[in-house]
Amino acid sequence: MDTKSHWDKVYAVKAPDAVSWYRPHLETSLALIERAASSHSAAVIDVGGGESTLVDDLLVRGYRKITVLDVSKTAIEVTRKRLEEAAQQVNWITGDVTEAPLDADAYDVWHDRAVFHFLTNPAHRISYVRQVARAVRAGGHVIVGTFGPEGPTKCSGLEVMRYDADLLHGEFGGRFRLVESSKELHQTPFGTTQQFLYCYCRVE
Ligand SMILES: C[S@@+](CC[C@H](N)C(=O)[O-])C[C@H]1O[C@@H](n2cnc3c(N)ncnc32)[C@H](O)[C@@H]1O
Repeated sequence: MDTKSHWDKVYAVKAPDAVSWYRPHLETSLALIERAASSHSAAVIDVGGGESTLVDDLLVRGYRKITVLDVSKTAIEVTRKRLEEAAQQVNWITGDVTEAPLDADAYDVWHDRAVFHFLTNPAHRISYVRQVARAVRAGGHVIVGTFGPEGPTKCSGLEVMRYDADLLHGEFGGRFRLVESSKELHQTPFGTTQQFLYCYCRVE
């Protein structure tokens, strides 16, 4: 099954709070985005945003240049519906992050929680990094959260990569200066835990 069909199927059968990656609020992501972008005029893109409440929380905080990209049309529709009128303030892109057309130097902050680790094919990771390098302007920030070294080996039935900070930063290369990394134990809605790793980089 291709990536789009897989994720559309996941979101068609599961409620937003019944997936392992669900949390009511993405606190770590929010804190890092606020650190990267103190001005609410910053352009923020959430890649693989799915049905998460990050976009809701960014709108409440006053961010007005928000883009949500996801390969699943179903997930984007659910999130748009939840936001009602506020959805009009968001730029929505349905597409694969490795190939979706993104404007050059368009974003101050790139956020990804639990998407990059699905790229098990090195060629897809290279395409992803090319996209970030093109879309984020110099001086902007990149926040990527993946499963950590002790995280699960699979998610949603798919094989995933697990990263420590050096390995993840190594995928991005020298133009991305690693400012900070942190690990987090995510409590799934099923009472289990998953180790996540976050890298916070500045684009030179
Ligand atoms: C594990 S979920 C994480 C969702 C959200 N970031 C969160 O933390 O709640 C992974 C998300 O990435 C999306 N996704 C997977 N591969 C993708 C790709 N190649 N391009 C864009 N989105 C992708 C899926 O549709 C799904 O919404």
